[in-house]
Amino acid sequence: MNLKSRVAIVTGGTRGIGRAIAQALLRQEANVVIAARHDQEIAQAVDALKSAGLGQVAGTPCDVRKFSEVLLLMEFTQQRFGGLDILINNAGVGLFAPVAELTPEAWGQVIDTNLTGVYNTCHLAIPCMRRRSGGHIVNIGSLAGKNAFAGGAAYNASKFGLIGFSEALMLENRYYDIRVTCLMPGSVNTEFGGDSVGGAEKSWQLTPEDVAQSVIHVLSSDSRAMISQLEIRPAKPPKK
Ligand SMILES: NC(=O)c1ccc[n+]([C@@H]2O[C@H](COP(=O)([O-])OP(=O)(O)OC[C@H]3O[C@@H](n4cnc5c(N)ncnc54)[C@H](OP(=O)(O)O)[C@@H]3O)[C@@H](O)[C@H]2O)c1
Repeated sequence: MNLKSRVAIVTGGTRGIGRAIAQALLRQEANVVIAARHDQEIAQAVDALKSAGLGQVAGTPCDVRKFSEVLLLMEFTQQRFGGLDILINNAGVGLFAPVAELTPEAWGQVIDTNLTGVYNTCHLAIPCMRRRSGGHIVNIGSLAGKNAFAGGAAYNASKFGLIGFSEALMLENRYYDIRVTCLMPGSVNTEFGGDSVGGAEKSWQLTPEDVAQSVIHVLSSDSRAMISQLEIRPAKPPKK
């Protein structure tokens, strides 16, 4: 897909991987709507992204867990840019505890954001894309969707689930020229899960820009070829 003048939504576009993806799309001259929960962070990110590329950027608050807010996000995008071609489901949270200690609230927050949030956006995006005769959905999964670890039950369940969801979505929509990709990064240097962005000690990790570059690669591939799953991992993590 030629990305110039395409309309994209990036959920969780205020920081980390989502912000890098928004920036990369703007450099390709796409028009981008970023969405997240905090107004001030949205305003700051939009301001910073305005000088990022030749595309236009706008932002709007949206908690992807809430269907009514996702509906408003779709309406905002329609009014601002006239439709939708690319949906990047990037918003995600990580709360980690053994199941016996994991509260129902924490379980709900992870599953509602990482899995139900993706259903909410896809449910509304697919009819828009069909009206425009095609589109591309990229779901940001994780290698934690293939490799479980102790303390990761909620996060693992959400990302394992996202792989299955993405494959079913791909099979349902390929003949409408809507492509679906589940992109699965390994460890990325961001504030994810309450972490802080690290310096030299985390230089082995992927950067958000590494992931963004993969997203552009996936979106730019010829329409004959669909990259339905992609793993990207640090080349040399510390040896265990
Ligand atoms: N970092 C890693 O090592 C890593 C590895 C593999 C996969 N991933 C995945 O990559 C994605 C992005 O992670 P990141 O590392 O960039 O994390 P991050 O720096 O914490 O950014 C998360 C983004 O999601 C937004 N968000 C969280 N809950 C939301 C909700 N309910 N509705 C809308 N937006 C919401 C946040 O903004 P607000 O808080 O303002 O809403 C923020 O913009 C996640 O899906 C994560 O699972 C991360």
